[in-house]
Amino acid sequence: MERAVAQVARLRGEIIPPGDKSISHRAAIFNAIAEGEARVTNFSTGEDCLSTVRCLRALGAAIDVAEEPGGLSLSIAGVGGQGLLEPSEVLDAGNSGTTMRLLAGLLAAQPFLSIITGDASLRSRPMDRIVQPLRAAGAQIWGRQGDRLAPLAIRGGNLQGMEHKLPVASAQVKSCLLIAGLYAGGPTLVEEPAPTRDHTERLLEAMGARLTCQGTRITIQPSDQPLQACDIAVPGDISAAAYWLVAAAVHPDAEIIIRNVGMNPSRTGVVDALREMGADLSIEDVRELGGEPVANLRVRSSELRAIEVGGAMVPRLIDEIPVLALAATAARGTTVFRDASELRVKESDRISNTVALLSRLGAKAEELPDGIIVHGGTPLQGTRCDSVGDHRLAMTLGVAGLVARGETIITGAESASISYPVFWDEMQRLAKGLPTKAR
Ligand code: S3P
Repeated sequence: MERAVAQVARLRGEIIPPGDKSISHRAAIFNAIAEGEARVTNFSTGEDCLSTVRCLRALGAAIDVAEEPGGLSLSIAGVGGQGLLEPSEVLDAGNSGTTMRLLAGLLAAQPFLSIITGDASLRSRPMDRIVQPLRAAGAQIWGRQGDRLAPLAIRGGNLQGMEHKLPVASAQVKSCLLIAGLYAGGPTLVEEPAPTRDHTERLLEAMGARLTCQGTRITIQPSDQPLQACDIAVPGDISAAAYWLVAAAVHPDAEIIIRNVGMNPSRTGVVDALREMGADLSIEDVRELGGEPVANLRVRSSELRAIEVGGAMVPRLIDEIPVLALAATAARGTTVFRDASELRVKESDRISNTVALLSRLGAKAEELPDGIIVHGGTPLQGTRCDSVGDHRLAMTLGVAGLVARGETIITGAESASISYPVFWDEMQRLAKGLPTKAR
């Protein structure tokens, strides 16, 4: 699908982003293996989270999905600690790394055979980072090309407790190993090189798991008691909100309010980075929802300046680097993103693709092995751009289209539905200054 986005004179309105994708995956998985029934509201409408639901159903979990105004609600009847069934079909994680990696941790502990695959993008992403530690914990697990790539075949069971020092900061790998640790014969300790999103820890703890966190060292104790079902109201996705934060900041006549945004400190790097760049961004009405902080964010047209992003900041904004690189094209000075080589193994190589797309739009951007350099202050010129089927690049291009001269034509625009199915409708609404649909 192609989308044409024309430069707009004014950007005004309110947004209620979809439910957080990371929290939605975890809410579904943990309640599926819990004891009792749970309702998850504001579940992400993105395709990725529906992939998780389909896989869990294939494993015997009873999950009803109902459409409610603005979101989905799930009713989950947990199967309890030992209740999953051998799937009679190949599990399909679609485009979703979180589905594949978190479920692999679960499957590695089940006494049956399962095979999990995904689309061409997911089948090219590194899986050795989970295969090796799961094997060290006692699972039988194989993948293509020397166990590096999916499909993965897993015959689980009889895991031992282990200590794992993660070579890369990855919440997906951490979560995979903690989930496996729920079923291990002894404690499982995971140490991360830098803190990553902690939704797994928060939710497992709320559901009764025996978990201790000391800085970047997390230990989970196996338990005879299954997790206890837990109703969850999922906060809005800050990674979806990021597109509107940047759109308002770079547009010369904009004001956007984004409501109900998840403000977990492990995810708010995009807010911190934009504020450091000088964005007129206020955080309003901070409150708690589903064990996570949420707030409303108000952003207005801003004069941005360049910043440097690296180190422990990177996991806090890893998915937002493409759209922040777009913001950097409007900033005074040279912005540098470093320590982000993980971007090369996301849904696409987001270092080379972001640089190629911004350059195509007239920006001055360069690749580093582990990052991106953007020389700001060059106006963008609309043209035809291919999102290469990567949802975050498609949405970044959409935002670029709002400020680039003329028209930006985005091919593969449908990929936005991986995390944000109504993204293009919302963009049109903001460009026309129409009110949000009430929820
Ligand atoms: C996610 C973790 C991040 C992020 C992804 C979602 C999660 O991946 O990029 O979109 O839900 O745990 P890594 O943990 O592999 O960096």
